[in-house]
Amino acid sequence: MLTTYTTQQLGTLAPHAISDELERGHIVVFDPCPVPLPKSEDMRFLLEELPGRLKLKNISYHRESDRVYGFRGTTQETARITQILKEHSRHVQEFLHQVISPLIPGWVVATCSFRPIEEQGRNLPAHASNELVHIDAGAYGATHGDRILRFFVNINPGRDRVWITKGTFPEIYACWGEAAGVAPPKLLTEGPLQRLYTGVLQGLSKFIPPVQFMDSSPYDRTMRHFHNFMKDSSVFQQSLEGHQEFRFKPYTAWMAFTDMVSHACISGQFAFVSTFIIPLRNCRYPELSPFYILQYGPSGRMTMPGPRPATK
Ligand SMILES: [Fe+2]
Repeated sequence: MLTTYTTQQLGTLAPHAISDELERGHIVVFDPCPVPLPKSEDMRFLLEELPGRLKLKNISYHRESDRVYGFRGTTQETARITQILKEHSRHVQEFLHQVISPLIPGWVVATCSFRPIEEQGRNLPAHASNELVHIDAGAYGATHGDRILRFFVNINPGRDRVWITKGTFPEIYACWGEAAGVAPPKLLTEGPLQRLYTGVLQGLSKFIPPVQFMDSSPYDRTMRHFHNFMKDSSVFQQSLEGHQEFRFKPYTAWMAFTDMVSHACISGQFAFVSTFIIPLRNCRYPELSPFYILQYGPSGRMTMPGPRPATK
């Protein structure tokens, strides 16, 4: 499930090498981190001053409003963390253009966040907890079947960031779909009213960006339902089916389709997380995506229907 690339290997990649790994549900690791990290005085600011300045679950830069949320500080400090996150997001985007260019046309560059709090024992409400295994759903509003890609960097100088998984979406769907009430498969068609609602919100969001987070769809509601089932079910959380643990070393980076790879962060402090929404139509194996599996089941074959017609 884990594929690691060194800097040297990145120079000799086939165009679809990494995007294919992502679509198959692999976590792609880069050792060392392939993007420049903040300079030492900014690192000191992040590691020493940020933990006491958290107002929400994370400190996040939202590109659509050009603002940072979740941070409590002076105007100068706010400008500083904004600049650090904007710059990191820019570096990650440049790198992704080099290594997964086929997935990028039409992508949405979503939040870039910093996680300054130790994940172990945070005691967040279950549905917000990172310590419980889940697939991501609604990480940046409705996606209508488009994919959630996340790029992580562990900037803790001395400690690993530790993840556990219980497998990929097709595997979890096969084992737990029925118990969760998302199997057997059913069509997640968006009717004319849904499409009108989405279209109106997309238009409005050009003037009032937060409006986009009011959108939903049959797909997004089903994914959220599955996400909540995973976090609420102690039987699922305690199951050893597909269970694996991964340790991400200091100054390494990794990325995954987090709507595909189940994950929980059980310990670690100080990480950057950049989120991107990748159009499903860019995927070479749409039949492996949650959108198709929820509708047609986990066939594991490459003969499923092509990408869905555009709904937005
Ligand atoms: Fe997650």
